[in-house]
Order: sequence, then structure tokens, then C-alpha cells
Amino acid sequence: PPEASLTRAESLIATIPDFPEPGILFRDITPLLADAAAMRAVIDAMIAPFSGTFDVVAGVEARGFVLAGAVAVAAGVGTVPIRKAGKLPRPAASVSYDLEYGQATIEMADDLPAGSRVLLVDDVLATGGTLLAGRQLLGTLGYATAGVAVLMELAELNGRAVCGDDVHAVFQV
Ligand code: PRP
Repeated sequence: PPEASLTRAESLIATIPDFPEPGILFRDITPLLADAAAMRAVIDAMIAPFSGTFDVVAGVEARGFVLAGAVAVAAGVGTVPIRKAGKLPRPAASVSYDLEYGQATIEMADDLPAGSRVLLVDDVLATGGTLLAGRQLLGTLGYATAGVAVLMELAELNGRAVCGDDVHAVFQV
């Protein structure tokens, strides 16, 4: 059953204290990604609320790429990267924002058809700054945000208040 698969998948996420800085409790999803059944379960769960509502998946560097590619193939669409500054050869828009630790700028190209419906995907919703910036990028470029899906939401940081209460999180901790 899907619920049992998801419970097992969640148990594969490792919690690492003081990484990458003292005081940060890091959620390491790599053991989950390495497990075929867990990967299948979480990808299906990320897509479920948005089935048929999006034309393409945008993944946020770097861990978001892994999930976005899998979501795209499972849903029968393509994927585009939202990258950290300086990595794309033809960035069309750029947004800077504050992270839980540090600061970042993300960029995106404008190769999609105008008005494309984009499912925005990342691994973790923390403060919400990254996904808000992602939404802003999509809007700036004339794309519609069909939805926002993450593997895990760190609920106590209340990132929803920043990036939108419509975020779909497979797991909440
Ligand atoms: C992490 C995570 C999200 C973002 C969430 O990325 O993968 O993208 O932080 O944080 P926020 O909700 O507070 O904005 P990170 O910048 O560590 O990049 P990485 O995936 O390349 O390791």
C-alpha cells in the first residue's frame, strides 16, 4: 500500500546534526534516493495532486534536479533546471534571496513556450526563500506555476508563509 511505502521511504531520510554549520539539522535524502521502492513511492506522491496540470517540471539546484528529472519522466513531460548564479550559459532572469544559512541567487533560461504550466520541484522546504524565488523566476519569464512539490517540509520554519500555502509536501517534520 502507498502509505506503507511512504512510511518506509521517510525512515530512510537521515538526520545529521551540525551540517553544514553548527546548529543546522541537515536532512540527508540520499539513502531514500538510492532505494528503488522508496524513490518510486515519493515520486508518485509528489505528482499525485498535480496530475495532468503541468507541461514541464522545473527543478532547483542541486538536489531538486534529481527529483525533478524523475517526476518529469514519470509524468511524461520534460524538465528544466533552475540553477545557482553563473552556471547557465543563457540566463534570462535572476532572483537573489536569503537562505536558512547564507545567501543565494538562482537563474533560469526562457526556452519554454510562453504560458507553459510549470511544476516547481525541490527536495526541502525550509525558510521558503528558494521556492519563493523560483516562483518569482517563473512569473518574470511569463510561465504559470502549476504547483510546488517538495519531498520534505521543515514545518517549524514556517516556509509556507513565505513561498505560499499551496505547497505540496510529501513529508512534514
Ligand atoms: C537547500 C534545499 C532547498 C533550499 C531550501 O538547498 O535543497 O533548495 O535549501 O531552503 P529554503 O527553503 O530556506 O530556501 P541548498 O541551497 O543547500 O542547495 P543544494 O541543493 O545545492 O545543496
